[in-house]
Amino acid sequence: MNPPQENQPNLYFGQAELEHLQSKTPLGQLEFREEASSTNDIALELIENENTKYPLLVLTESQTSGRGRSTNQWWSAKGALTFSIALAANSTNLAPNRWPMASMTAGLAVCEALEQFLPDADLNIKWPNDVFANKRKICGILVETPRLHKKNLIIGIGINVNNSISNAPAEIADLATSMCDLGGRTFSLPDVLESVVTKLIDRLAWLGSRDQDLRKRWTSRCLLTNQKIQVNSPAKELTGICQGIDEEGALLLKTEAGLERCFAGTISILPEN
Ligand code: BTN
Repeated sequence: MNPPQENQPNLYFGQAELEHLQSKTPLGQLEFREEASSTNDIALELIENENTKYPLLVLTESQTSGRGRSTNQWWSAKGALTFSIALAANSTNLAPNRWPMASMTAGLAVCEALEQFLPDADLNIKWPNDVFANKRKICGILVETPRLHKKNLIIGIGINVNNSISNAPAEIADLATSMCDLGGRTFSLPDVLESVVTKLIDRLAWLGSRDQDLRKRWTSRCLLTNQKIQVNSPAKELTGICQGIDEEGALLLKTEAGLERCFAGTISILPEN
């Protein structure tokens, strides 16, 4: 943990920043690690402890084995934000039937938070759980539930903030971006985190009571609307034109056989004929 330099954005988390974050957000517990394998894994361990308070935030400055969806790894370097929020699903409006909507809601919260720092960027959700800025991936979201009991929901979020993509492996550099690359400057990590956590907790509270508002916002930020796409899931492979996202978080696809609702899958954007 290094002290911030005068007039420079705060690039690190010290005790003062962590206390400030707790005072400004309704977090029940904050766990900070200077280095961690995966914040989702730490959250999975902590929810086994009956004294854990929710929402629980697990934060690290350096994640060494970040996990992505399926078997993917999550690349992050110093300057990235990597954290997980664990929620007690039984004490919120997050009933299991709303869990598919949680990653869309998290994506929306990230878009709305990052927009405060990058007002000129075009921030979109790529269903089901990526955030894109100016058509490049800036954030990945991994929503998990423990295998054995389903009392908790863990939302892992990785945002490229001050980690320039010019230092990333080539396969990532071709598709991704970061806040510092877009803004041409560094950003205060504690400020970005506070903004994302505040938006996330606020928008998750809309689930069940303001589903139509959420749907409108998902749809207006959907990167895939009107695009020809292919959705690959273990169950099926579908091709069609994306019609947006419905109130349950399902991707709507106009196929030759009619309108299909997709609840999971990997997306490929296809060239127009
Ligand atoms: C994806 O794009 O496939 C999802 C990436 C999710 C990365 C975040 S970083 C914090 C949290 N801990 C992890 O191990 N993964 C998530």
